[in-house]
Amino acid sequence: MRLVLLGAPGSGKGTQAGRLKTHLQVPHISTGDLLRAEVAAGSKLGLQAKEVMARGDLVSDDILLGMLEARFSQPDTDNGFILDGYPRNLAQAAALDELLVRIGQPMDIALQLEVDNELLIERLAGRAREEGRADDNPESVRKRLCIYDEQTEPVIDFYRQHGQLVVVDGVGTLDAVFERILEAIAPVRELG
Ligand code: AP5
Repeated sequence: MRLVLLGAPGSGKGTQAGRLKTHLQVPHISTGDLLRAEVAAGSKLGLQAKEVMARGDLVSDDILLGMLEARFSQPDTDNGFILDGYPRNLAQAAALDELLVRIGQPMDIALQLEVDNELLIERLAGRAREEGRADDNPESVRKRLCIYDEQTEPVIDFYRQHGQLVVVDGVGTLDAVFERILEAIAPVRELG
């Protein structure tokens, strides 16, 4: 299963990907987690990304593509993956398409978790209190939601137009959302 997980900040991508990777036995590749690991390690890339991420802006497409190419060169992705946090704009969608064709791993499905803005803001405020993530402050959350509307929604339209998109209601208990995801991907798994 080669799954691209889409959805606004706080829609539950990371949470559900954690469950899905166990269920599908494929790695969860989160570009946000990869970047946060670079920040924590204090690498050159991490130093470049730190402020950008804290503001809620997007890190440069070049950095992301290089990071992703390195991740996809690892053998654990040979039998599939769950990609979370990429692509976030149309240039990244084109780059991903090219990369996956080049490595012979074309994507099976793009799955969007849909949650309304009010609930997203509530969830991220909750996470800010519990985990203190640097970009969960109100100003950065507003910026992230705005970038999502302006730059990532066109990616969703792109996959919809290409017949690759399924939309799943991301509101409800973690189990309920997970069940909906499994139902949504079942036809692809049967084909595989
Ligand atoms: P990234 O880490 O990808 O952040 P995000 O897309 O903003 O997503 P989040 O991690 O905030 O939310 P999520 O959808 O994973 O939800 P979660 O499961 O955590 O990116 C961070 C930054 O890195 C970007 O802003 C950018 O700077 C940079 N970056 C990353 N990728 C990039 C790219 N491709 N290009 C350029 N820059 C990039 O859930 C959120 C909260 O809700 C949690 O507390 C969770 O417990 C709770 N929750 C989840 N599901 C439910 C539920 N069903 N009911 C109740 N609570 C729930």
